[in-house]
Amino acid sequence: MANQDNIQDILENTLFSEADIHEMCTRLGKQLTEEYAGKEPVLVGALTGAIYFMTDLSRQMDVKCKMDFIDVSSYGNGTESSGKVKLVKDVSTDVKGKDVLIIEDIVDTGHTLKFMKDHFMELGARSVKCAALLNKPSRRVDDVTVDFYGSEVGNQFVVGYGLDFYGMYRNIPFIGIVKPEVIQAYANK
Ligand code: XMP
Ligand code: MG
Repeated sequence: MANQDNIQDILENTLFSEADIHEMCTRLGKQLTEEYAGKEPVLVGALTGAIYFMTDLSRQMDVKCKMDFIDVSSYGNGTESSGKVKLVKDVSTDVKGKDVLIIEDIVDTGHTLKFMKDHFMELGARSVKCAALLNKPSRRVDDVTVDFYGSEVGNQFVVGYGLDFYGMYRNIPFIGIVKPEVIQAYANK
């Protein structure tokens, strides 16, 4: 990441290496292959954070499936959930009677996931489950199940592999923890 010259300045340390992420995708892919055997689920990636996870996870799933994307926003530009979730872009696939698998980068308060699960149930999906790369249970506000996840994380702000800090650093291939003082400095801007 030679051109992202300040990356080590903003990161406290690496939390998950590329190998760690690959291991999580492989493990979850096997679980989901069993879960959806004989079914034809619709994989719905939550933009934008889930893009890398969706491409890697789906290739570890030996399942006949469709793929689509949804864009819901709750975060604005910062690191704290606003609590209000807005549908920015819906799926174009008809999910009525279908098994929907939402693919998320991280579940934090659960506002976003709850909104998406309710949304697909209202559209008449037969089942709605979620595979998230990361799960931050200490911050949960909404009672919502993260059906499959790669790893739990503590109450830290993480970045990379799709996860952003003020819209940036999504294309770092590993996941790092953002320094609290950097979060503070941006919040005061
Ligand atoms: P909620 O609070 O609705 O949030 O569960 C889900 C969305 O919030 C974002 N999020 C993060 N993004 N590092 C990030 O880059 C984090 O540590 C983090 N925690 C939450 C994320 O976009 C997720 O979809
Ligand atoms: Mg997101």
